[in-house]
Amino acid sequence: MEVKRIALIPGDGIGKEVIPEGVKVLKAAAEAEGFKLEFTNFDFGADRYLRDNGHLIDDDELEELKKYDAIYLGAVGDPRVPAGVLEHGILLKLRFDLDLYLNLRPIKLFDEKYCPLKNKTTADIDFTVIRENTEDLYISAGGFLRKGTPQEIATQEMIATRFGVERAIRYAFEEARRINKKKTVALCDKSNVLTYAHNLWLRAFNEIGEEYPDIKKEHYYVDAICMKMVRSPEIFDVIVTPNMFGDIITDLGAEIQGGMGTAVSGNVNPNGISMFEPVHGSAPDIAGQGIANPIAAILSAAQMMDVLGFETASKKIEKAVIRAMEEKETTKDMGGTLNTAQAGDVIAKFVKEA
Ligand code: NAD
Ligand code: IPM
Ligand code: MN
Repeated sequence: MEVKRIALIPGDGIGKEVIPEGVKVLKAAAEAEGFKLEFTNFDFGADRYLRDNGHLIDDDELEELKKYDAIYLGAVGDPRVPAGVLEHGILLKLRFDLDLYLNLRPIKLFDEKYCPLKNKTTADIDFTVIRENTEDLYISAGGFLRKGTPQEIATQEMIATRFGVERAIRYAFEEARRINKKKTVALCDKSNVLTYAHNLWLRAFNEIGEEYPDIKKEHYYVDAICMKMVRSPEIFDVIVTPNMFGDIITDLGAEIQGGMGTAVSGNVNPNGISMFEPVHGSAPDIAGQGIANPIAAILSAAQMMDVLGFETASKKIEKAVIRAMEEKETTKDMGGTLNTAQAGDVIAKFVKEA
């Protein structure tokens, strides 16, 4: 029997509530499909940081994680820890040090009744954002001058490398070819203002695009793409974008597909280990109440199965989620009455029946 080893990092807040539901559903899918998943828990996050002298992730732990077939993460971030410490020290460290350079964020409406836009169908909202995941404003370079004075200046550096930009753009064109739907790649940038870093993006996009004559190229500034995503999401197929804008437009994407509780994120290195997580964060405003929607985590688990080569298991999970939505067997953010664990139970049951 084929066995895959998954490293679990539930993290903080609702991360710790939704990951167990994802595991429940994964176990049901593996059993149904005749393969085995072994899970190992890693306790990185706020509790460990506070208990263990500011511990985040060290080099040995990073090496250990590389031995797994995939990482399945909840979310990090906790009001007891200064903003950015856990986000940089855990989440961004994993994305950067494991070179998870593609952040695949599908925007897919599964059930029309959950869409806040008027007159949009499931066919209208179905595209993928490919977010470059290791550059841009996320490199954590910058500093303060005259900190704490009225003359203070803070800088935050944005970088784009030809290598980093090119590998994301190439993947986007290949993806548009592979999914073979609208055969369109849209670049989302702000090259009218960011005339260095995003100019590199625009030039690379146009040059690489010439190698893909079968794929249509479109270009939107980030402000305009927000407007189009709300007004006419049906025009999109594949969007490729620098790190920061990818972060922002995928929260907008989450809302048009049914809410933060449904949005999926795969941090992928096609030649190495990958990490799967919901788009949402640790949601301190609802943490500990058992009401978090586990669907984003569960669909991220489905994406993980797909990348690991278990396409049927992945499809079964997706079908089970769609059925739960259709039957309104959901948490209260989607209008249902279930708690987090009940919502996970229902989806696991539907996976077995799929
Ligand atoms: P958030 O995504 O945690 O929450 C935004 C809003 O969406 C909140 O009102 C929350 O209750 C709601 N929400 C999110 N997920 C939900 C779910 N599954 N079910 C129901 N409602 C849900 O964003 P935030 O409040 O800006 O950030 C909170 C913390 O999470 C911060 O520390 C932030 O840095 C961190 N964060 C971490 C990640 C990650 O680890 N991948 C992602 C985003 C934010
Ligand atoms: C996300 C989050 C992270 C990001 C934060 C927590 C570092 O918002 O995964 O979308 O900005 O990428
Ligand atoms: Mn985000």
